[in-house]
Amino acid sequence: MEINRNTIIKDLIEANPETIVVFKKYNLVIAGGVRGPNEPIAFFAKAHEVDYDTLVKELNEAIEKGVGEHFELPVLVEDRVYQKFVKTAIILTLTVGVTFGAITLSYIAFKLNFNSVYYALIQAHGHAQMYGWLGICIMGFALYIIPRVKNSELKHRSLVNVCYFFIITGIALRVIIQPLPYKPARFLLPVSAIMEATAICLFAFIILRTILSSKEKVGIFDKFFKAGITWFIISTFMNLGMIFHLYKHGLYEVPRHFFSPYIHLYLFGFVFMFIFAINIRTVYAFLDIKPVREKAINLVFLIINISVPIYYITHMLAGKSIIAYRFSQFMALPLAGAFFIFIYGLRVFERSTKELQDVVMDRSYAKTIRAAYIWLIVSAIILVVMSFLGHGTDVQKRFHGSLNHAVTVGFITMMIIGYSSKMIPTFKGVNMYSLRLSNATFILLNFGCFLRVFSQILVGINGKPLFYGVMGTSGWFELAALSLFGYNLWKTINLTQEVKQTATKKLLEITKDTKVFDVVDQYPETLQVFLDFGFNQMANPVMRKTMGRVASIDMATKMHNVDLDKFINAINTKIAEKK
Ligand code: HEM
Repeated sequence: MEINRNTIIKDLIEANPETIVVFKKYNLVIAGGVRGPNEPIAFFAKAHEVDYDTLVKELNEAIEKGVGEHFELPVLVEDRVYQKFVKTAIILTLTVGVTFGAITLSYIAFKLNFNSVYYALIQAHGHAQMYGWLGICIMGFALYIIPRVKNSELKHRSLVNVCYFFIITGIALRVIIQPLPYKPARFLLPVSAIMEATAICLFAFIILRTILSSKEKVGIFDKFFKAGITWFIISTFMNLGMIFHLYKHGLYEVPRHFFSPYIHLYLFGFVFMFIFAINIRTVYAFLDIKPVREKAINLVFLIINISVPIYYITHMLAGKSIIAYRFSQFMALPLAGAFFIFIYGLRVFERSTKELQDVVMDRSYAKTIRAAYIWLIVSAIILVVMSFLGHGTDVQKRFHGSLNHAVTVGFITMMIIGYSSKMIPTFKGVNMYSLRLSNATFILLNFGCFLRVFSQILVGINGKPLFYGVMGTSGWFELAALSLFGYNLWKTINLTQEVKQTATKKLLEITKDTKVFDVVDQYPETLQVFLDFGFNQMANPVMRKTMGRVASIDMATKMHNVDLDKFINAINTKIAEKK
C-alpha cells in the first residue's frame, strides 16, 4: 500500500498490521475502534508531534520487514469507557437541563418577572447542568483521553462503573429532593451530596493514578488537568457543605451569596482547567496552527488559580463588607484578562500554518471551537461590566444570568460539541453520523445563545416586554440545537465500524493472503486445524473478529513459525473432506 499524506491510519493498519508498532511508538494508544483512527497520517504526525517524513520512513521499513516470528499482533478492542457518561449527560441535559430551562425561561418571560419561579427549581436545574451535563461529560472524555495523551493505561478501570453509579444516583436524588416540599425524604439530600463526593473522589483517584503512572514527559497541559481535578474535589466538598446547611436548617434554596460565586468557582476552576488542558494539547493540530505560546499559557494558569479562591471569598462577603465588595469588583479584571491571554497563547484566531492544507479531512468542528472562544470573549466583557453594576441590584443579577449562559452554553457547551464531533468519530474509526445535523446544531445554538445573552442584558437595562419575549423564545432554539446534537452523537456512538465486506465473496481458494477470519467464517470446520497448528487465540471469537480480520495466513504462519504450505494443505484437505 503506497503511503501518502492522506493515507487513513486504519486502512494502513488493516493492510499492514506490522505498522501498528510504529504508530504505538508515537503514542497511538488503541484509539479509533477496532482498526485504528479514521485519520490521515499527516494529521496524526502533527497531532503527535512527529516529523512526517521520519514517520513514513519508519512505516515503510516496518512493512519491508514484515511480521517476524516474535511479532505480537496487538489486539485493537474498542475502548467504550466514555460512552455511558456521554449518553447519560445527553439524557440529563435534554430533560432536567435545557428542556426545564426553556420552559422556565418562557414562564419568566410570560410573567415579565425573574422572581416568579420557585428558586429551588432553578438551583436544581443549575446543579443538573453543572454536574449532570458538564461534570459527567468531562468525566467520560477524561477517562478516555487522559490515558491517550499520557500514553498510559487507564488505572483502576474496575472502579469506573462504581464512579458512574454514584454520580448519576447522587445527581438524580439532588434534582428531585432539593425542590420537593416533603420532609420525610429530606434525609436523601445529604445522601445525594455524599454520593456525588464519593464519585468525584473516585474519579480523581483514577485520573491522578493514570497521570502519575505515565512515563511520558510532563507536558504544559499536565498541571491544568491536576488543577482541574483539585477544583472538582474542592467544589464537591463545598456542595456537601451547602447541602448539610440546607438540611440542618430545613431550607430549600442555597443562599445566593454562596451559590452564585460557587457556580463560577466550579466553572472557572474545574471546567475551564480541563477544557484548557485539552485545548493546549490538541488545538494546534485540530486548527492547523502553530503550537501554543507557553509563557502566556503558564501566566494564565497562575492568574486563574490565584484569582478563583479570592473571587469566591470576596463575592461571598461582598454583601457584608465594602472592602470585600471593592475587591470582588477588582477580581473580575485579572480573570477576564486571563481569558484574553489564553486566547492569545492558544493562537485560536491566528492564521493556519497550512501544514495540513493538502490533507482531506472533516474540519467542520473548527468553526465550533472558534465560536466557543468568541463566546469566551463576550463572557469576559460581561464579567467586567457586571462587577461595576452595583452588588445585588436587579440589573447586576440579569448580567450575572447572561454571563452564566455565555460561559456555560456559548463557551463550554459549544466546546463540548466541537470536540465530541471530532473525537468520538476518531475514537470509533468512523465518520460523524450527519454533517448536516452538525451544521444545524451550530447555527441554532449560536442563534439561541445570542438571543438569550443579549435579550437578558436588555431586560436588565430597561425590562421592556419585547426583550422578555425574545428571551423567552431563546431556550427553544437551544433545545432544538442540543436535541439534534444529542441524536447525531448518539447515532455516531452506535455506529459500528464499516468492515470491508471482503468476506462476502465465497472463498474458492485458500492462499497465503487469505484473512484467517474469512477462512473460519466460511469453513467453520477449519477452526480445529488452526488450533492443531497452535493458533490458540483463534479459539476466542473476539480475537477471531478483531485480529482475524487483519492477519493473513502468511502473517499468522510467520508469527507462529508454522510451515505455510503444510498449513494451507491441511486447511484445503479439511475443506475438501466436507464437500
Ligand atoms: C441551553 C439552554 C438553557 C436554558 C434555556 C437555561 C435556562 C435557565 C433559566 C431560565 C435560569 C434561571 C434564570 C437565571 O438565573 O438566569 C437558569 C439558571 C441557571 N442555569 Fe440554565 N439554562 C440553560 C443551560 C444551562 C447550562 C448549559 C448550564 C450549565 C452548567 C446552566 C446552568 C444554570 C445555573 C447554574 C443557573 C442558576 C443561576 C443562578 O442561580 O445564579 N444552564 N437557566
